[in-house]
Amino acid sequence: MNCFLHVSLKYICYDDIYMGRVNVAILASGRGSNFKAILEEIKEGRCNAKINVLISDNPKAPAIAHARDNVIPVEIVEKSDFDSRAKMDLKIKEILDSHSVDLVVLAGYMLILKGKELLEAYKNKIINIHPALLPSFPGVDAQKQAFEYGVKVSGVTIHFVDSTLDAGPIIYQEAVDISECKSADEISEKILAVEHKAYAKVIDLFSKNKFRTQGRRVVKD
Ligand code: GRF
Repeated sequence: MNCFLHVSLKYICYDDIYMGRVNVAILASGRGSNFKAILEEIKEGRCNAKINVLISDNPKAPAIAHARDNVIPVEIVEKSDFDSRAKMDLKIKEILDSHSVDLVVLAGYMLILKGKELLEAYKNKIINIHPALLPSFPGVDAQKQAFEYGVKVSGVTIHFVDSTLDAGPIIYQEAVDISECKSADEISEKILAVEHKAYAKVIDLFSKNKFRTQGRRVVKD
């Protein structure tokens, strides 16, 4: 193959790879196992997305190193650099806009998004994953709450993010049998394995415009 043809083919392939994909921003504060799982599913061709940027409020988050290893741009937006959460979220919105983001994926992001401009501009374009069947056990330590309450079935909820705490319109739920779990950690582990498949699946459906919202009901076409 001559040099010119080789370069042209590479160009065509690159364009082709990302055609029709949903441009995603990941927001993560910690280890980022969901981020890693989504990236893996993208690489395996099971999730029609491209991760344009990883945003973190925690410069020590292990998710950052994983993003850099995979040549994904990283933006650190720390709470301590702003005198209000509104200003912090405005900065996040500017970053999302500059990376042409279609879908914002919260993956272990430990802050509640509060900025009006951000929430309005990205209405029904921000999703979160919660390790329980909402509306049961919202907030932190959902697995511990489920363990202490003694429920036998918990699970995963993926929902749109609005100004409420874990109460935005529900997109997807999957039940997990936790009746044999002996601790909150065991519940976390069992639910996490389900999270890793479910999140990429929902992002893939989003890329194919499979969701419609009717009030707070999300229906799949
Ligand atoms: C997950 O359990 C998720 O449901 C919750 O925070 C945890 C994040 O884990 N929102 P990771 O950082 O993706 O490993």
